[in-house]
Amino acid sequence: MKQKKFYITTPIYYPSDNLHIGHCYTTIIADCLARYKRMRGYDVRFLTGTDEHGEKLEKAALEKGMQPLEYIDGIVNNIEKLWATLEISNDDFIRTTQPRHKEIVQKIFSKFLEKGDVYLGTYEGNYCIPCESFWTDAQLDEDGNCPDCHRPVEKRTEESYFFEMSKYADRLVKYYQDHPGFIEPIERQNEMLTNFINPGLEDLSVSRTSFKWGIPITENPDHVIYVWIDALANYITSLGYLSDDDSLFQKYWNDDDTEILQLVGKEIVRFHTIYWPIMLFSLGLRLPNKVYGHGWLIMKDGKMSKSKGNVVKPEILINRYGNDALRHYVLSQIVLGSDGTYTPELFIESINTDLANKLGNLLNRTVSMVDKYFNGTIKDNDASTSFDRNLISTSKLVIENYEKHMDEYHIDKANHEIFDLINALNKYIDDTQPWVLAKDESKKDELEKVLINLCNGLYQVGIMLKPFLIHASDSIFAQLGINNVEYDSIYNFNFNKGYSVKKGEPIFNRLDVEKEVAFLSGNKDE
Ligand code: ME8
Repeated sequence: MKQKKFYITTPIYYPSDNLHIGHCYTTIIADCLARYKRMRGYDVRFLTGTDEHGEKLEKAALEKGMQPLEYIDGIVNNIEKLWATLEISNDDFIRTTQPRHKEIVQKIFSKFLEKGDVYLGTYEGNYCIPCESFWTDAQLDEDGNCPDCHRPVEKRTEESYFFEMSKYADRLVKYYQDHPGFIEPIERQNEMLTNFINPGLEDLSVSRTSFKWGIPITENPDHVIYVWIDALANYITSLGYLSDDDSLFQKYWNDDDTEILQLVGKEIVRFHTIYWPIMLFSLGLRLPNKVYGHGWLIMKDGKMSKSKGNVVKPEILINRYGNDALRHYVLSQIVLGSDGTYTPELFIESINTDLANKLGNLLNRTVSMVDKYFNGTIKDNDASTSFDRNLISTSKLVIENYEKHMDEYHIDKANHEIFDLINALNKYIDDTQPWVLAKDESKKDELEKVLINLCNGLYQVGIMLKPFLIHASDSIFAQLGINNVEYDSIYNFNFNKGYSVKKGEPIFNRLDVEKEVAFLSGNKDE
């Protein structure tokens, strides 16, 4: 059978400052899905990177008295280090200042010109520097500020190339209609239609002459290419589109069989579902299967953002609590598509409740009982208890739902399914009361079967958790004494006919909420 292919991308982040846990959120979701697809046998390509051009970065460097690249290199280095510390499993990291990207963006722009989709004109408008966006008077908010970030805009007139977006508007609307689910959540599609497409797509200014920090247009090097055109192209330049070796491009993009998912924060859905598809139409290329516009991590005082200065530094959380704790928080506590709140209290609670109490205790109790009652080794038998059927049917249902949610990229829902099984296993211990069975020699088989069932359930939990808790899942297998794990074994509850457990340290320790909240509250830039 032909191996299925999956290409997943995150936005390429601006290296204007170090990243915060909002950026980690997107990257961790992508990592979780990439790991899931690999586990399901897909050939996966996972891309992330940095968006390094534009006036905002030029200004940030100048303010520090540095050349743009000198300034950016340091931050990009920190970003790459952060992803390595977080064990992000990306296959590539694209920087838009790399020659492999710049050369192709120039070729792409030339194609737009040849096609007649781009023409030279003059621009008069309101420019928002932080958002790198021009706005018409009608688009400004009620105070005459940028409608996205609500900061003041500047009046500008300049010669500019324009992309004739309206040429492709009907085709875009038809594409949305023919491909339900192209934009998720659906409300974002409605926003695009109501706010941008239905009122009439305006031609997009796609070059700048007012600053130099960008990719020059080959045909007219006084102009640099608009940073969003430059940035969006990364998803295909990184695959070698229009380069001598375009095999990755052919494999992961230019094949309708490849499932392509582009994850972005909700504020940049417009760029990914209007400009990017139109660029692809113009180039004669396919569109991604889905653009998922997720919500924001918000603090008590609003969106966490570099420019607002209320960021939580991921390094602080990772160093103290580990990757799994941060992964668990962002993957389970935030409904994909909606905003989610970060507070130190919620973060510590999620470790204590889910990881230490529910999961950690379950593993610890199970392995301890196998140790205590059977010297660490148990074998399957034909005994049963009245609670088994319930447990086994819960596990079957959980696996079905887990796969359905993961295949639809609804990771938070999939995570909750895993915890439903963990809860069912904890309840199974309370119901069967192994410590009572252990007192009655005639119940020895029953006791052994209860422990087998607990280990089987934990084994399934370990498999489903693999994309979520990359260390805890390994610890579960190690403590259950399992070396080889195959995903498909999950479908058979009795796959393992015996266990020789190896008791280990608790996988998560319960934390002192007050102490940790005080620590975290003292460690953020509010
Ligand atoms: O927009 N909550 O880069 P950027 C959740 N370079 N996600 C957040 C977040 C928060 N509080 N803050 C940031 C850019 N993000 C462009 C992208 S792509 C061709 C170019 C995440 O550094 C979220 O994914 O501002 C958001 O879309 C992205 O970081 C913005 O990163």
